[in-house]
Amino acid sequence: MGEQGGERSIVRDAEFESVSSPSLSSKNIFDSSAKPRHAIDLPHSTQTRKGLARVVSIINLKGGVGKTTSVINIAARVAELGLRVLIIDIDSQGNCATGLGIDKSKVENTTKTLVLNPEKAMSCRYSTDIENLHIVIGDGRLISLEQEIMADLGRENYLADSLESLLPHYDLVLIDTPPNLNLLSINALSASDGVLIPVQTEYFALEGLAMLTNSIKEVRKRINPRLGVDGIFLTMHAPTILNNQVAGLLREHFWEHLVEPPIRRNIKLAEASSHGQPITVFAPKSNGGEDYAALAENLVARWAIVSGGN
Ligand SMILES: Nc1ncnc2c1ncn2[C@@H]1O[C@H](COP(=O)(O)OP(=O)(O)OP(=O)(O)O)[C@@H](O)[C@H]1O
Ligand SMILES: [Mg+2]
Repeated sequence: MGEQGGERSIVRDAEFESVSSPSLSSKNIFDSSAKPRHAIDLPHSTQTRKGLARVVSIINLKGGVGKTTSVINIAARVAELGLRVLIIDIDSQGNCATGLGIDKSKVENTTKTLVLNPEKAMSCRYSTDIENLHIVIGDGRLISLEQEIMADLGRENYLADSLESLLPHYDLVLIDTPPNLNLLSINALSASDGVLIPVQTEYFALEGLAMLTNSIKEVRKRINPRLGVDGIFLTMHAPTILNNQVAGLLREHFWEHLVEPPIRRNIKLAEASSHGQPITVFAPKSNGGEDYAALAENLVARWAIVSGGN
């Protein structure tokens, strides 16, 4: 179909095709006469299920926007506040473990074990140097996992099923996702109550956001009607004209979803990761330390998580 005569038609994946074309594109962000007619419409968050952890995926299809840095530092701060937090790394890069000073090569049970063996869920968790903060470690083994479950019925719900027995033991589960929408990211979205979207305040940020919104809506419609947007926050923010313009647009269109403060660009955050420590331990008084602390506190207020259950 469509491949005769040398002309190849574009193969579209119906699961994730846009419902409507996004009105907010990065092409017109500096042209005030071409202001978007309406903002991207993001689904609102839903309530956490009683007695269970809130499950939140940190997601952005763009690479290097600060997803992993945000997972580690939000999780660490929330744990410091006394809440029980579990990180699940579904990215085969496995940076969450490294950023928390854990040697992945010494670990037997990983996120792959968790996904394939719900009965082993409890023994897939590892403690960290932060009290109340546990992690399920992602690593290169996740690459083959996708192939292994691709043909299975119910393949989108494996992670949700495996998580079920862990949820009563935590207040917050934060899932770090890869920079593409693969079957494991779909599993993360299908297991989540909400998504948190870190946005780098630069030129193509809005385009990525429009794409992601459509994916979230599709998952919500087809797999997980609970899924909503818990918040958008700005990362690697610098006081340049471009950064401020993009930040202004995001504030204008997503004021309901935007969680303050923006995370400023700060070398201490990169240094903390390379030392295997969250910023709360490595440099709590740095700009990055103060920004992530304030962001995490605002998120906790937003989630209204109460220690020991909800
Ligand atoms: N606010 C910040 N200021 C300076 N550097 C930062 C900041 N946030 C993250 N970084 C650095 O930017 C790089 C990318 O960050 P990170 O790995 O968190 O992004 P990511 O979205 O998880 O990437 P990927 O899509 O590859 O998973 C890292 O080297 C990290 O230390
Ligand atoms: Mg990452």
